Amino acid sequence: MIKKAIILAGGNGSRLRPLTDVVCKQLLPVYDKPMLHYPLATLMLLGIREILIISTEKDLPFIQHNLKDGSQIGIKLHYAIQTEPRGLPDAFIIGKEFIGADPICLILGDNILYWGQLNLIWNECLSVQEGAYIVGAHTREPHRFGIIECDKNSNVLSLEEKPIHPRSNIAAIGLYFYDNNVITYAESLSPSKRGELEITDLNNIYLKKSQLKAKFLSRGTTWLDAGTINSLMDASNFFQIIEDRQGLKICCVEEVAYNMGYINSAQLEIIANQFGNNSYGDYLRQRLT
Ligand code: DAU
Repeated sequence: MIKKAIILAGGNGSRLRPLTDVVCKQLLPVYDKPMLHYPLATLMLLGIREILIISTEKDLPFIQHNLKDGSQIGIKLHYAIQTEPRGLPDAFIIGKEFIGADPICLILGDNILYWGQLNLIWNECLSVQEGAYIVGAHTREPHRFGIIECDKNSNVLSLEEKPIHPRSNIAAIGLYFYDNNVITYAESLSPSKRGELEITDLNNIYLKKSQLKAKFLSRGTTWLDAGTINSLMDASNFFQIIEDRQGLKICCVEEVAYNMGYINSAQLEIIANQFGNNSYGDYLRQRLT
């Protein structure tokens, strides 16, 4: 089972300027919490508790200030700097020591998932022994993403990064599961025309070896990428509607830690009190009753 993950939370956030002149994209608010909490909560719900967060030299201290060493929410956080946005596969080169001899999950710090129910697809992805799993979701804007073409049995036929003439409407979301060969494969890549190592080139290595599988999100699961001003706003509105309606928070890392048994009620109470009498603290205190 995959027990370790990397959250890639660097980049220059140029599409979200001037917001990102102040704070990095992954710390921008998505309704009531920083964006980064959503992918972090996703990993915690998948049972992954040892996580490397990679960001820029400028932004990493803010992330560290927010999440500390993770022990307060029952996880272990490591941190590393990416000096230049060299591309997503750079995560495995930077994270080589952290990964060691283990398989690894990668999630992008701006990818947000909302699932009604923990889906069985994740178990299969997490138990990858040899090869890799990518995850696909329908999109109306295929030119913005890595696009997966597959046959009617869900076998991957091709993968293309931001194609001009997309062969399908299924985007590879920013969540990936790899065997340990990913380090060697990432090190073998050369930068693309846009000067970055491409995750699609990495996944194509697995595809050529017939070792790439894809899982697809069902309609009950929503994937939001907050990569543009509009999608950032949409994500906030989406979670406001759901949280207001049901009175339950989505991807609240402290609550997830408590529900997953990573921390006990005494620990949750301490955290809740650190928030004081604000609504977030009140919400956490309500979990205890
Ligand atoms: O969101 C899913 C998509 O993510 C996939 O469909 C694409 O195949 C994949 O290439 C990627 O596309 P993007 O164009 O969204 O990647 P972007 O350059 O925006 O980077 C995604 C996140 O990773 C973003 O929050 C910034 C961060 N990042 C990016 C690069 C290139 C880093 O931390 N370091 C980097 O070197």
